[in-house]
Amino acid sequence: MRVLVTGGAGYIGSHTLVELLGQGHEACVVDSYDNGSPIALDRVRGLTNGHLEAHEADIRDTARLTAIATAFAPDAVIHFAGLKAVGESVARPVDYYDVNVTGTLSLMRAMAAAGCGRIIFSSSATVYGEPEYLPYDEAHPLRPTSVYGQTKRMAEQILTDWAAADPAATVMLLRYFNPVGAHASGRIGEDPHDIPNNLMPYLAQVATGQRDRLVIHGDDYDTPDGTGVRDYIHVVDLARAHVAALDRAAGVTGAEVYNIGTGRGTSVREMVAAFSRAVGRALPVTVGPRRPGDIAAMEADCSLARQMLGWQAQYGIDDMARSLWVWQSANPEGYRGAAGESRASQTPSSEIRPKP
Ligand code: NAD
Ligand code: WQD
Repeated sequence: MRVLVTGGAGYIGSHTLVELLGQGHEACVVDSYDNGSPIALDRVRGLTNGHLEAHEADIRDTARLTAIATAFAPDAVIHFAGLKAVGESVARPVDYYDVNVTGTLSLMRAMAAAGCGRIIFSSSATVYGEPEYLPYDEAHPLRPTSVYGQTKRMAEQILTDWAAADPAATVMLLRYFNPVGAHASGRIGEDPHDIPNNLMPYLAQVATGQRDRLVIHGDDYDTPDGTGVRDYIHVVDLARAHVAALDRAAGVTGAEVYNIGTGRGTSVREMVAAFSRAVGRALPVTVGPRRPGDIAAMEADCSLARQMLGWQAQYGIDDMARSLWVWQSANPEGYRGAAGESRASQTPSSEIRPKP
């Protein structure tokens, strides 16, 4: 299929491109490079043989997005582009609603102009909020506790209403749990532009000496070791879930929603232990107070994705930790440390040619 990928230069988008191109799909990326890098796209090209076009554009620029979509004529869209920091979303609500909600509406207008009615959307487990029961299944009530979570919930609702209005439309809402790790090559990975907020990118910078120590945000939760429990999923497994959703989207209409996790909860201390094994030494850790707004434990019921998409996660936390360390140790400054590399895809609207 011809797939328009918004936000393809980011963490999850770049890994998904590798899987898409590896399966013979063709991709056209639209990314503002606000939090992604054209070097990631160069490296995706180096890992694959597929057809990859890249355009530097903001998804809120409907006219430009329409021109790109009309020229590419996609069979489907995967919509990653968005802002994703929970704390920042509370401080900058207008920007978050604008990019995540207005940006999604802009994309839908461009899709309509291009005659494309299939979309896979990056939603988040954060739409559930405080658990009424665990593991969360897709029918769990949606009560997001942050502006970021609200933007995802609103975008889900808009896309669901759109599918209800158009009998030919297909919407796949994927609720990701906690993506971590990197491609096994270490060529692409997560590249936080600021001090990382999330556990594993922060811990990775502790291992390289860029941060002094990890502060565990509370060890007095009602969990087996007192630290927070999350459902971490290898980013390559998550990327493959998009390919599975795309395959299904080709044969169905309407809106469907899927949890994408492993179904297994892991505590902060267990993740620290796994990453220490990957690095080969103990890492400095202290315990601090709870982080405001944190939930004690989150786990996904992924049985629907297994049944309907034929997808389930293959990798465990040691695979996640090892791949993260391969990426982080080779790229301690992320893509900013790759200044000497070819920047073919940095030219606006450049086309990255298939490998001979
Ligand atoms: P990311 O920041 O690495 O990737 C997002 C990409 O979108 C970046 O390349 C950025 O430059 C681009 N972008 C941002 N605003 C844009 C705009 N206005 N126009 C065009 N491009 C724009 O984030 P990620 O971790 O790869 O997340 C991808 C998607 O998955 C996001 O929608 C995020 O909310 C969602 N998600 C992420 C997680 C997570 O923990 N990483 C969990 C659940 C859901
Ligand atoms: C994991 C655990 C922390 C940092 C967030 C978003 C969610 C989704 C994924 C986008 C918790 C603990 C963390 C640290 C710590 N993103 N921790 N010390 O909060 O589960 O989810 O990212 O959709 O929406 O909310 O992920 O990695 O921040 O935290 O002890 O320095 O690690 O308290 O228990 P979270 P996280």
